[in-house]
Amino acid sequence: MKIVLKNIEKANYTPDIKSYLKEGGYQALKKALTMDSEDIIKEVKASKLVGRGGAAFPTGLKWEFAYKVKEFPKYVVCNADEGEPGTFKDRLLLENDPHLLLEGIIICGLAVKSETGFIYIRGEYIKAYELLKKAIKEAEESNLLGRNILGSNFSFKIKIYRGAGAYVCGDETALLDSLEGKKGQSRVKPPFPTFVGFENKPTVLNNVETFANISEIILKGADYFSKIGSSRTPGTKLYCLSADINKPGVYELPMDITLRDLLERYGGGVKGELKAILPGGLSSSLLTDRDLDITMDYPGVQAAGSMLGSGAVKVINKSRCIVDIAKRSAEFFDYESCGKCTPCREGTKRAREILTNITEGRGSLSGLELLKELQEVMYDTSRCGLGQAALNVTRSAIDKFPDEFKEHITNKRCKVNICPLNVKRKVGYV
Ligand SMILES: Cc1cc2nc3c(=O)[nH]c(=O)nc-3n(C[C@H](O)[C@H](O)[C@H](O)COP(=O)(O)O)c2cc1C
Ligand code: SF4
Repeated sequence: MKIVLKNIEKANYTPDIKSYLKEGGYQALKKALTMDSEDIIKEVKASKLVGRGGAAFPTGLKWEFAYKVKEFPKYVVCNADEGEPGTFKDRLLLENDPHLLLEGIIICGLAVKSETGFIYIRGEYIKAYELLKKAIKEAEESNLLGRNILGSNFSFKIKIYRGAGAYVCGDETALLDSLEGKKGQSRVKPPFPTFVGFENKPTVLNNVETFANISEIILKGADYFSKIGSSRTPGTKLYCLSADINKPGVYELPMDITLRDLLERYGGGVKGELKAILPGGLSSSLLTDRDLDITMDYPGVQAAGSMLGSGAVKVINKSRCIVDIAKRSAEFFDYESCGKCTPCREGTKRAREILTNITEGRGSLSGLELLKELQEVMYDTSRCGLGQAALNVTRSAIDKFPDEFKEHITNKRCKVNICPLNVKRKVGYV
C-alpha cells in the first residue's frame, strides 16, 4: 500500500516531469479543475487526512477555514523545513518526486482561491532545492503553473524560500515571520495562519507529506483513502526509523501498524536490547517495551503518553545512558530556543545546567524535583511547541528510569560505559 512513495519505488523513476506524467501525474489537477472549490474541500475533509508535520490537524478543515475568509490575496505555504531530529522523510519526497508535491500545492491553491504558493525549504537541502527549481520550471513550461493553467481561468505561481537553519522556523508562525524577512520567532496564536498568515492574509500551511497525499485523494476519492489503515487517522505514514535499529530508513505503512511490527517486521529488530523508543523525535516522550503493542497512529501514540509528531522513531538500546540522552536533548532545545518568551528562554538553560550537573556527578535530588516543576511550567506557559515540548524527553526519562537518575546523584555512578560520568571520572575530573 503506497501513496506518497508510489512513484519513487518504481524502477527507473526519475524526479522529472516526463516520469511523473508517465505515471499519471497531474491527472488529479486536471480533475480538480473541473470541480468547485467546495467539492475539492469536501473530498479532502471526507478523506479524514490529518497534517503529517506534527500537530495532526485535519487538512480539509484547515482548507475550509481559509476558503471561507473573504479576504484576498490568500497564500499557500509548504513547510519543508524538516528540522525535528530524526526526521528525513520530506527530503526523500523532495529529492525523488517533486512534482507530486507541486501538484498537491497547486490543487490547494485552486481550492482556497489563492494565486501564490511558497515552499519554505530547509537551507541544508541543496539537492532538493535545485530539483524543486527545475520541477517548477518544467511545470511552468507545461502550463501546469503560471497564468490560465491548462486553459482554465485559474492562475498560480510557486516561489521557493530557503531557511537559514533555525529549528523554531519549522513552527508555522515562526516560519511565516522568516518568510516575511523577519527574525524567525513564533507568533501568539490565535489568530491562526488560516485567518492571519503571510503578510496578515489568510494562509494555508501544510507539510510536504500532507500535500503529497492530495492527488491520490482527488483521483481515487475520499472513500478509498479513508478506508486505509487506521479508522481514526486514515492513510499511510512515512516512519523514519533511526538509531539502534538493524534496518534504519523511511517506511511508508498504513497507520494501523503496531510499534512492534514497525520495529521487528520492517526495521529488522532492535540492535542490542531495547531500552526505550522516541516515537516522534526529540519533542516526544519516551516509550518502553511495555508500549510495543500500541497502534502507530496519532491517537494511539498519544494514549501511550507520547506523540507521533512527524514520525521520527528513534530506537534506544541498553548501551545508552538515559540521563545523558536527557542532557543532550536539553542542550538541543537550549541552543534552538528563539528566546522570545521567558519560560522557554530561561527554562531550557536551567534544565541544561541541572542535567549537566547530574551527568558530571554534581547533581542533587532537589535538582530532579526542579526539573519536574520546570517541565510543568514550560508546558503550560511557553508560547510555542518548542518550549512546551522541550522537556518531554527529560520528564519521561525521570518518570520511567528513576533509578538511573538516583544512581547518578546518590552514588555518582552509571553502569553505562559511555556516560559522561564514567568518561570524566576516568580522566580524573570528578
Ligand atoms: C518547534 C516546531 C518545529 C516544527 N517543525 C516542523 C517542520 O520542520 N515541518 C513541518 O511540517 N511542521 C513542523 N512543525 C509543525 C508546524 O507548526 C505545523 O503544524 C505544520 O507544518 C502544519 O502542517 P500539517 O498540518 O500539514 O502538518 C513544527 C512545530 C514546532 C512547534
Ligand atoms: S517557546 Fe521557546 S521557541 Fe517558542 S517562542 Fe518561546 S522562546 Fe521562542
